[in-house]
Amino acid sequence: MNTIALADYDIQIGTIWTTWNKFLQTRNYSKVIVLVDENTKQHCLPIWEQNTNVSEYLLVKIAAGEQHKTIETCQIIWSKLMNGDVNRSALMVNLGGGVIGDMGGFCASTFKRGIDFVQFPSTLLSQVDASIGGKLGIDFQQVKNSVGVFRNPQGVFIEPAFLKTLPQREVRSGFAEIIKHSLIADATHWAHLSQLEHLEGVDWPSYLAPSLEIKKAVVTEDPFEKGLRKALNFGHTIGHAIESVFLESKYPLLHGEAIAIGMICEAYLSHKIVGLSAPELQDISDFILKIYDAVSLSSSDYPTFLELMQKDKKNERDEINFSLIPEIGKVKVNQTASKQLIRESLDYYCQLIIKN
Ligand SMILES: NC(=O)c1ccc[n+]([C@@H]2O[C@H](COP(=O)([O-])OP(=O)(O)OC[C@H]3O[C@@H](n4cnc5c(N)ncnc54)[C@H](O)[C@@H]3O)[C@@H](O)[C@H]2O)c1
Ligand SMILES: [Zn+2]
Repeated sequence: MNTIALADYDIQIGTIWTTWNKFLQTRNYSKVIVLVDENTKQHCLPIWEQNTNVSEYLLVKIAAGEQHKTIETCQIIWSKLMNGDVNRSALMVNLGGGVIGDMGGFCASTFKRGIDFVQFPSTLLSQVDASIGGKLGIDFQQVKNSVGVFRNPQGVFIEPAFLKTLPQREVRSGFAEIIKHSLIADATHWAHLSQLEHLEGVDWPSYLAPSLEIKKAVVTEDPFEKGLRKALNFGHTIGHAIESVFLESKYPLLHGEAIAIGMICEAYLSHKIVGLSAPELQDISDFILKIYDAVSLSSSDYPTFLELMQKDKKNERDEINFSLIPEIGKVKVNQTASKQLIRESLDYYCQLIIKN
């Protein structure tokens, strides 16, 4: 098992169950609440139950999917806690992907001014990204993550076996964050992961630990997103805009699928603005296109992409803000690009997929 220690909690990766049971034994919680969605109830809860020493717990099940990451679902969760006589000394276990982790953590942090919670992330995205950094919350008035708090869990327990039932498309989507972490901070990790030919049968723990170390370094330095944390935005300025446009289409993209395109475009901007070398740009593009399906972008959508980028909350003043990589493993925040160059970067992606 691997342990990643943060200032006030640990992340355990691998054979987690002994540590988890010791955690429970020493804390003496008045009650344990387990939050699941219908998929994690089916696939993850039996594993959790089999390995956890608790005589009883309160199960709270919600509907799966981002569309349920809302205040209405929080009300369902808070009601279950109220009706279950949950007091301040209870523990909430969030067993699921990023939606369960963000919303469960938010409900726990606000119920009776805050009860303890732990994360059992069950998707690759949540294991490598959402479960660390203390950001919790929900979507409000169609704006993603617009209501929430920063608060750390008491622990994060990563069981790689959960990934066995995760649809391959979800695995690929989560992998985009692992690629991103290596590109902004760890050339050695990139050298390792870019050897992969495909994502079947991958030994995930060996990729999770280095990736979490990178996110840890960034969030420890900048817990409240004042500066350096923007580094994590690589691929996301353009990627988010593409994700939003496709959300309205017949073929919505998963978050990581859009970020993969965003990383190719922003690697192109990195080449033009901060001197990423042509061979490294080529390596990044080749690898991402090997793992992810080509997506055709229409130039008639470019104005909408640009408008969405302009509106992105991470932009200060009127400029479009990027975190770019001068070389693999290094990042420069607060870079700006002209609209013309952004269009060119989208064209670059379109030409690549024609050639492939
Ligand atoms: N807090 C943060 O720092 C942070 C960072 C990144 C993303 N996020 C948030 O995370 C969310 C996305 O997370 P996600 O991709 O995990 O989505 P998700 O929680 O919706 O999970 C994706 C799907 O997989 C299913 N699932 C989960 N685990 C499974 C398993 N082991 N086997 C089979 N099916 C399983 C879920 O039921 C769901 O249908 C977004 O809301 C995003 O805002 C938060
Ligand atoms: Zn992301």
